[in-house]
Amino acid sequence: MLSKQLKSLTSLQRYLNTATSIRVANFSSKSNYNGLYEKHQKIAEKKMSQQEILDVIKSDTLFSWNATGPASSSALVMAKGEGVYFYDQNGKKFIDFNSQAMCSNLGHTVPQEVITAVNDQLKSAAYAYPCAIVTEIKAKLSLLLADLLPGDLGHLFYTSGGAESNETAMRMARLYTGRHKILARYRSYHGATLGSISLTGDPRRWAAEPAASGVVHFMDPFPLSFKWGENEEEVTKKSLQYLREVIAYEGGKNIAAIFIEPVTGTNGILKAPRGYLEGMRQICDEHGILMVCDEVMNGFGRTGEMFGFMNSDGVVPDIVTMAKGINGAYLPLGAVACRDHVANFFQKNPIGIGSTYNSHPVTLASAYGALQYFLKNRVLDNVNKMESVLIDCLEQLKAKHPTVKGYRALGLFGIVELQKNAKGEPFVEYNGPAHPAMGALKADFNANGLYTLLRWSSFFTNPPLIINEKELREGFAIIDKALTNLDKHFEK
Ligand SMILES: Cc1ncc(COP(=O)(O)O)c(C=O)c1O
Repeated sequence: MLSKQLKSLTSLQRYLNTATSIRVANFSSKSNYNGLYEKHQKIAEKKMSQQEILDVIKSDTLFSWNATGPASSSALVMAKGEGVYFYDQNGKKFIDFNSQAMCSNLGHTVPQEVITAVNDQLKSAAYAYPCAIVTEIKAKLSLLLADLLPGDLGHLFYTSGGAESNETAMRMARLYTGRHKILARYRSYHGATLGSISLTGDPRRWAAEPAASGVVHFMDPFPLSFKWGENEEEVTKKSLQYLREVIAYEGGKNIAAIFIEPVTGTNGILKAPRGYLEGMRQICDEHGILMVCDEVMNGFGRTGEMFGFMNSDGVVPDIVTMAKGINGAYLPLGAVACRDHVANFFQKNPIGIGSTYNSHPVTLASAYGALQYFLKNRVLDNVNKMESVLIDCLEQLKAKHPTVKGYRALGLFGIVELQKNAKGEPFVEYNGPAHPAMGALKADFNANGLYTLLRWSSFFTNPPLIINEKELREGFAIIDKALTNLDKHFEK
């Protein structure tokens, strides 16, 4: 047993294995901790090699979502970030074409505004108990967000991330309406906590099942193979008619809320067809259902509008959930915004949710600094300027590579769909088994210094919102080269 344990120790652990460092469960003496400080001082002072890091990650940590063994073997190491790039432990440079998890929207160089705001907050009031003590930064950030959000959406609740924001919005909708059921769409992701994963329509939900009760899923305007119609107008009309029918089956008076990503994110960068959000708003109003827009990925400029729902004709949701872009993901933060009628209810009634880290002043300060940077540097204008470059690059890929079936893009939110033959069949079906060609494509991207997310038969092009044209074209040159190799897998 011991020899097996020793074998699995990494070279770094072996190097540091003094008498005090072998991990044995012995509670008999409190002096077990003696020597640990010295041991970890040695570790802290030594620069670990890339392989040593990966070895410890594999043996001492567990990965999110994926099996730790393969995930840790293919993981990149980030040693340093700068602008739209990051570097591994050996100094290899990667252009970040997915803003990590579509969240490092301001890039990897932390703006001075964020550093100053965070440092000032740490020095003044580093933590405050959220249900009893408030801070100036909470007031200032709320004023700023209320100005960014349209209409009367200016009532804020702060969380630690996207899933928690959706969890909170579910609770709020149920308390406000006194109803239990919630509708959400199949092609969606809303987070990993029990409530949010229950909202989630894609296969990430399956591991959590049986999940929380009361969520009913429905199809969006762009199901995988099924088609609502031949043109946008027909698609909108039929999918709204279908939604009305789902509501009739479930009972409009039983439904608290409909959750949607206004522009679907990891499930395909799917912009709602013209009239769809407007129609959904009307249906919600007819039944007293709250419309909740999940802006965790869309929000703060990703789609070319400040919020994804603003790609509509004046639709204002009842509740908006946010995270990621709110502070460029420099610290964990989410938020929920609601309109007057919802906020008035919670002026008189308890919201029934909270956590130690809600409204954490340091994370709020990071958002305040990030949003000031965002506004001062007109990041939204940059997104709109770069959108045409992104589309030009995607169009060139489509024209050149037979494996490119198509693309969808708006703002700096893009996806490329791949095909293995002229019939348009994907390399990997929806949630299907991996295909070696997709593995090779990922390896090619990485070998040539591009990081992005590949999912089934597609890959994403979601760089930080501060990217410039030269950097964007540089990333696409790497993609072009890798697709030339992928084209060899195209079945004629
Ligand atoms: C649309 C959407 N909602 C919610 C979440 C969950 O956010 P978090 O990972 O911060 O919990 C995500 C994360 O990717 C998301 O894309």
